[in-house]
Amino acid sequence: MAMIELESVTKKFGGTVTAVDNLNLEINEGELVSLLGPSGCGKTTTLRMLAGFEKVTAGTIRINGQVMNDLPPQKRNIGIVFQDYAVFPTMSVNENVAYGLKLRNVTGAEQKKRIAESLELVGLTGFGQRMPGQLSGGQLQRVALARALVIRPQVLLLDEPLSNLDAALRVSIRKQIRKIQQELKITTVFVTHDQEEAMSISDRVAVMKTAKLVQHGPPVSIYDDPATAFVAGFIGKTTLLRGKLESGNGDLVKLSAGGLSLNARKRGELSPGAEVWISIRPQDLQYGVSFKDNPVTGKVDYLELLGSLARGEIIDNNGLGLMFEVANPARSPVPELSSQASFNISPDAVVYGQLDAADSEIFKDEDVVLARE
Ligand SMILES: Nc1ncnc2c1ncn2[C@@H]1O[C@H](COP(=O)(O)OP(=O)(O)O)[C@@H](O)[C@H]1O
Ligand SMILES: [Mg+2]
Repeated sequence: MAMIELESVTKKFGGTVTAVDNLNLEINEGELVSLLGPSGCGKTTTLRMLAGFEKVTAGTIRINGQVMNDLPPQKRNIGIVFQDYAVFPTMSVNENVAYGLKLRNVTGAEQKKRIAESLELVGLTGFGQRMPGQLSGGQLQRVALARALVIRPQVLLLDEPLSNLDAALRVSIRKQIRKIQQELKITTVFVTHDQEEAMSISDRVAVMKTAKLVQHGPPVSIYDDPATAFVAGFIGKTTLLRGKLESGNGDLVKLSAGGLSLNARKRGELSPGAEVWISIRPQDLQYGVSFKDNPVTGKVDYLELLGSLARGEIIDNNGLGLMFEVANPARSPVPELSSQASFNISPDAVVYGQLDAADSEIFKDEDVVLARE
């Protein structure tokens, strides 16, 4: 039995807005699952239904086998951390952390012990007497985390907890959150719109788009095997091409896109003539190799030389733009800006799927979309 079960969960606001549409997701004990998707796709609403702040319009939420639908928030044994910390400004750190314990009548020596434990867990031992105004954003967020954990919740919910912090702090606090989560083996749902954050911290990522769950799985499998063009473009950089399945031949198929012909490893059962999206990751354009499964030649239109990689774009002979990345440019051959360069793409790196209405929306009137982040 999964720790958290969301079964056909739907939330409508005012009869017209469907914020969450028939969501099915199970989260196992001790797992950290991220809800990832663009702003407005229903992540916060899903979390608020789990917490009990919103009632489900339809469907069932179970935690540890128990139906939660009509249980008020304080009876759910859930710890929550919000984006804006929501630390009480007129209470000391100790008082903030004690809040949930007081509600549960944990007092005296036991209360003291639990507060000390939680502050230690988040690296804030010795900060108990401080007022929130004397703390940095990162410290405030750790107080919020200590306050959520002190009640020893069976589930931890985090709603964009790092979004108000600067980039360096975001990385260091996300590492801390992950470490604590693994130490306590606490079942956690982490909401974010930041794909790198979701990839780095999660056991599984659940990608949402316009109220619907699109795909879920371990980070690398979602990256490597996206179910739709949206997921391919949202998780990591990729070149998306609008194309057609020309012919299937056993394990390999032939695709075409704007004059480019590509051999691809077969995925799913599409018939010749099917309209497809094609995703090719920048690092899958191999430079300086002699074998040519899928040769692509073009003019280097753009080049950035970074320490760990060289990043650029070519315009191929059919006018298609494709992104490339070469690792370790100091030790690897890198094409020159404005030169003609030839790359190879392995059939395994050509990912494709049937083009549906939502994917067509991504392409608008273009045949190529460079999803840069
Ligand atoms: N209380 C509410 N009343 C009406 N609409 C709401 C309410 N809360 C959220 N929504 C709408 O539901 C959709 C999903 O919102 P939300 O869950 O906050 O998305 P996310 O957290 O992914 O950005 C949005 O269209 C939002 O405007
Ligand atoms: Mg939100």
